Amino acid sequence: MVAGAGGGCAQAGAVRRGLLALLLAVSAPLWLQAEELGDGCGHIVTYKDSGTMTSKNYPWTYPNHTVCEKTITVPKGKRLILRLGDLDIESQTCASDYLLFTSSSDQYGPYCGSKTMPKELLLNTNEVTVRFKSGSHTSGRGFLLTYASSDHPDLITCLDRANHYLKTEYSKFCPAGCRDVPGDISGNVVDGYRDTSLLCKAAIHAGVIADEVGGQISVFLRKGLSRYEGILANGVLSRDGSLSDKRFLFTSNGCSGSLSLEPDRQIRASSSWEWINETGDQVRWSPGQARLQDQGPSWASGDRSKNHKQREWLRIDLGEKKKITGIRTTGSTQSDFDFYVKSFVMNFRNNNSKWKTYKGIVNNEEKVFQGNSNFRDPVRNNFIPPIVARYVRVIPQTWHQRIALKVELLGCQVAPSNDSLVWHKTSVNTVGSTKGEDKTISKPIPSEEMPKGLNITTIVILLVLFFVLAAGVAIFAVLRKKKKKGNPYGSSKTQKTDCWKQIKYPFARHQSAEFTISYNNEKEMTQKLDLITSDIAG
Ligand SMILES: *[C@@H]1O[C@H](CO)[C@@H](O)[C@H](O)[C@H]1NC(C)=O
Ligand SMILES: *[C@@H]1O[C@H](CO)[C@@H](O)[C@H](O)[C@H]1NC(C)=O
Ligand SMILES: *[C@@H]1O[C@H](CO)[C@@H](O)[C@H](O)[C@H]1NC(C)=O
Ligand SMILES: *[C@@H]1O[C@H](CO)[C@@H](O)[C@H](O)[C@H]1NC(C)=O
Repeated sequence: MVAGAGGGCAQAGAVRRGLLALLLAVSAPLWLQAEELGDGCGHIVTYKDSGTMTSKNYPWTYPNHTVCEKTITVPKGKRLILRLGDLDIESQTCASDYLLFTSSSDQYGPYCGSKTMPKELLLNTNEVTVRFKSGSHTSGRGFLLTYASSDHPDLITCLDRANHYLKTEYSKFCPAGCRDVPGDISGNVVDGYRDTSLLCKAAIHAGVIADEVGGQISVFLRKGLSRYEGILANGVLSRDGSLSDKRFLFTSNGCSGSLSLEPDRQIRASSSWEWINETGDQVRWSPGQARLQDQGPSWASGDRSKNHKQREWLRIDLGEKKKITGIRTTGSTQSDFDFYVKSFVMNFRNNNSKWKTYKGIVNNEEKVFQGNSNFRDPVRNNFIPPIVARYVRVIPQTWHQRIALKVELLGCQVAPSNDSLVWHKTSVNTVGSTKGEDKTISKPIPSEEMPKGLNITTIVILLVLFFVLAAGVAIFAVLRKKKKKGNPYGSSKTQKTDCWKQIKYPFARHQSAEFTISYNNEKEMTQKLDLITSDIAG
């Protein structure tokens, strides 16, 4: 359907837009018969071996005449566990409204109002197609489903609350994607959470798991409190709560203490705000005032931050390499100065290395943290995985009126001497395990398991590599020669590739938007600093 040769991209684009408009015009009257695939889907987050999926508008009434169809997979060789958090479909016969699962070997359902689905399905395959269809109806929440691989038989759904479980201590697996599922939590990581709180959402709030990935949580119960104080943490708002019989806490690795700072020696900033007050005194909002535990005004950036082009930063030197698991921030803390940072990114480095940017786990892009929403209340963000560095830099992305910050870093000492080794080991392990999962690509690359000394295998591999390289060079030379002879299609070829990119890109974007969570940030400034992007290893 791409326009004729030499037509160029503009034409092809116009043709596509025309077709799209035509399609919409034709399909509108047929709306009742032909639903678009996917228009009935709601919140969907998938990661390697777990995820969350809801119908559109969940938990409010799903729309008339829609379909949601999605294939979910876990790594090859594993079985898929489906766990239903909620099913409320208005139909007695499952004729026009239903939820249906189809795998290569079996079909489960259709499920609807009267034909209730079992709480959990263990499939024989690692892949299933979920199909949700709605006809005409007046009520019904639709569905909420979580899934995981059979490695996680203790999978729970995003809707499970601590008071569902009677034991005083237990461990469960939270799927990816519970953060944005509607439902309340009350409390905080230090005092604990009210037992009516959603377990997985509380775990994200506490910094125990990352929403994009999910993970194992360990919970223990304690006697309730008379009042639970809510805060914003990791993009989740917990509410204040009243007396409850029980509360729950997460067992932690103990690396969440406050890292101490000497204000004048260890905190620097790109600029600071100075002005003369009514009595003629100079008022400085210097970086030394950026410690969260100190009273008084915070650090605030100078006026140049107003033109949005210059990146401001607050730099903290911890004196030595530390493991940093979180950051707490506030705004000005002064009611007369309604200043705060709404979003920020983090940089880190060691003694002599370059600044690296902290990235998200899933998309490998600069991670934007949700900061403060008023000048007063502290907001916590956790680093999963932790940062191991001596220097960190907070770089505000968006702010209210003026950049103003107080910070506290959470973390602990790195384990002496063995630390770098541990990091190295884990990274090798991950490589090994992903390889193990992809057993179809049965071309083992032995480099990981190789003993230290040179042996026969090494030599053979080096020889093979050499020959491959030589062959590559030869082929390249031949190709170049051919090209030089003059390719009459040279120009149209490049045009074609451009077109192809344009055609492919919206699809790729659509997919990634579906597979990841947007942080609702206003990332407007491009990152043109000399930042080496990298993983977390010190
Ligand atoms: C579906 O359509 C019926 C009849 O047109 C209408 O009464 C009902 O409110 C609609 N339901 C929803 C969820 O929009
Ligand atoms: C001006 O600043 C000085 C020094 O910080 C302070 O003592 C004084 O109270 C301030 N005056 C007013 C009117 O805020
Ligand atoms: C970094 O510098 C500090 C102080 O200058 C020193 O104590 C520390 O050993 C250095 N660390 C590394 C890894 O070089
Ligand atoms: C380093 O780790 C190994 C095993 O992981 C342990 O046996 C050894 O005691 C550790 N050394 C130090 C200094 O912590």
